[in-house]
Amino acid sequence: MIKYYEESKTFHFTTPNTSYVFRIFGERVMEHLYYGKRLQDLEGMFPCDYGKFVSGAPIDSEFSEAESFVSTDIMLQEYSFYGSCDLRTPGFHAAYADGSRITKMKYVSHEIYQGKPKLKGLPAVYVEEKDEAETLEVIMEDELTGLRIRYRYSAFQKLDVITRNIEVENTGKKPVNIEKIMSCCLDFETSDYELLHLHGAWGRESYVERCPLMNGCIKIESRRGASAHTHRPFVALVRKETTENSGEVYGFNLLYSGNFEAGAEVERYLSTRVFLGINSFDFHWLLNPGEEFVAPEVVMTYTDAGIGEMSRTYHELYRTRLARGKWRDLERPVLINNWEATYFDFNEEKILDIAKRAKKAGIEMLVLDDGWFGKRDNDRSSLGDWYADLRKLPNGVKGLAEKIHKEGLQFGLWVEPEMISPDSDLYRAHPDWCLHVNGRGRSCGRWQLVLDLAREDVKRYIIDVLSDILSESPIDYIKWDMNRNLSEIGSDVLPPERQAETAHRYMLGLYEILETLRERFPEVLFEGCAAGGGRFDAGMMYYFNQYWTSDNSDAGERMYIQHGTSYIMPPVFMGAHVSAVPNHQVGRVTSLETRGCVAMGGQLGYELDITKASDEELEEIKKQIELYKDIRQTVHWGNMYRLKSPFESNYAVWEYVSDDQNTVVILYNKIKAMVGFERNSLKLYGIPENSRYRLRGTEKVFKGEVLNRYGLCVEAMGVNGIDKMRDYSGRVLILDRVES
Ligand code: DGJ
Repeated sequence: MIKYYEESKTFHFTTPNTSYVFRIFGERVMEHLYYGKRLQDLEGMFPCDYGKFVSGAPIDSEFSEAESFVSTDIMLQEYSFYGSCDLRTPGFHAAYADGSRITKMKYVSHEIYQGKPKLKGLPAVYVEEKDEAETLEVIMEDELTGLRIRYRYSAFQKLDVITRNIEVENTGKKPVNIEKIMSCCLDFETSDYELLHLHGAWGRESYVERCPLMNGCIKIESRRGASAHTHRPFVALVRKETTENSGEVYGFNLLYSGNFEAGAEVERYLSTRVFLGINSFDFHWLLNPGEEFVAPEVVMTYTDAGIGEMSRTYHELYRTRLARGKWRDLERPVLINNWEATYFDFNEEKILDIAKRAKKAGIEMLVLDDGWFGKRDNDRSSLGDWYADLRKLPNGVKGLAEKIHKEGLQFGLWVEPEMISPDSDLYRAHPDWCLHVNGRGRSCGRWQLVLDLAREDVKRYIIDVLSDILSESPIDYIKWDMNRNLSEIGSDVLPPERQAETAHRYMLGLYEILETLRERFPEVLFEGCAAGGGRFDAGMMYYFNQYWTSDNSDAGERMYIQHGTSYIMPPVFMGAHVSAVPNHQVGRVTSLETRGCVAMGGQLGYELDITKASDEELEEIKKQIELYKDIRQTVHWGNMYRLKSPFESNYAVWEYVSDDQNTVVILYNKIKAMVGFERNSLKLYGIPENSRYRLRGTEKVFKGEVLNRYGLCVEAMGVNGIDKMRDYSGRVLILDRVES
């Protein structure tokens, strides 16, 4: 998987279909040579003739005469440091004790070994057996300052995945101020790409956008203290002609949940530099002698088979080697959440009524959402006071949980532990525990402040209070919410020179808390949430086994949100609920069938007052859950093919093929009913040409090659009333293999 050619100091990484090549040039630079379709060997790979460029750039003074035909300003590199001759966007920038800002690295050593180590304090994809991946570590050092860099790359044996991160150690005698440290900074020879990324807002997460690269820099970022609704820490370079099923794609996903930046810079000779890392805006890190800084991991994947193939690689990697614990491979319970049913207005009796009726429909877990603690009758108080409100729950959480269990349902509880309401006992006792800057006021969002997770006492408090709740009551699931962006980011426990570390320390604190709780309570299913998908990033999925995809529960809106989310996130991570109509966010009325169809594209749940459902509706929900249980293995653990995009067509159609290829599920969602508009034959993917499949509920049998090439003419066949679908409606289609 990683071959080293001593003579040319070249490393060749291979995954099943890709190669990645770089060499050590002049003992100083890691020169990037190739990333793309797999090469058997490197015969004839002569590095680019940089001499042909007319450059005003200086030549690095450390280069020997033989090497001095080139400036690092025009070399393709694996990483770049500010201060010498590379004048493009640097990966790394630091200030040293003498006031200088120059970093010059020199090769020290390298090591190749089987396996992949954990990252200290940060999420990372992992291996279970050593032979699943091979790792290269290259050590470089700045001789003058003693700053040491470890570049770490791991290549996966069975997946087209290469991960990388960097770690910096101060082996010198004086402090170093890191101003910028990208996890990945990689040069491409040309700029004829488009940048693909996901953007959004509250209730409108993960919209897909593609824009051509331009001379200069395109950057996406978060300054909100979380990866946020606005952008995902993900970019891909795609060719203009790349589609869902064909063409080149380079995917880069940062496993980090805080402020990040990611983008692409096209320089004057039209090469492209891709960068991802912790946002350098309002960041610095004081690295004292002997200290180390670990930058988050980037997961890279290349394919020439289109965007869908990139997604399938991320899906497989993340559901098998990012997700962890007991729940990684288990079917998750179908839940009912009381939020949109009652908001803050509930009591034990109401919750039990919901549970009883839910049980009749085949629902497996009741989740008690916001409002069960302190005196929380609205969102203006009590965050931090994590004891039951006995007016609503006279028997406490324990009493309710036991009663829910008696009804034959599991019990889940909502918490928002990172927050504190100014109107809370906790705030009155510890007004200094929130993020703040003295003399600058404390701005509330949703009437709440953010706890300072850089503080040991705050971390201990959150761990202890949640440990108590989880130990005292039979709780099977936790929904961990986080409902505002960070402001006045400052910490009472950090000295002035470390204030700009606060946002990253917050994230490290959160990761530590989550890791501790997961270790203490391995049976509990943790679901993440940040006002919907406000922190639904790959970093978080190391700790949470599922995530609430969006606060927008409308089936029509979810067609877009879940489509975009699936670019990186596997369906098994996506919380998706059937809610009431008219929908509470957009007022749209869709059928129960449609709401079920869309929600089956993720982890199905219900979020409506089921006590108000008629017997007929209850019967329909029951059938819906039976159908879901029948198809969820395929949807969650099969391969997903996005057949039609709502961003480009009148449909959101998702195909899922089981691992054994015996079952094909199609979630067929239409946006607008139109007359005689499209013939709409669905060409399927991922099924064998010679097998035969029967469309469930009919006698119709199709040969694989016909499905793949001619397609399934769904509307013409009128199955499940598909020809009569109204605006924003969905149907589930299933094909069963009848002959291989
Ligand atoms: C935001 C979440 O996304 C909702 O599902 C709900 O839990 C509310 N917070 C409760 O305050």
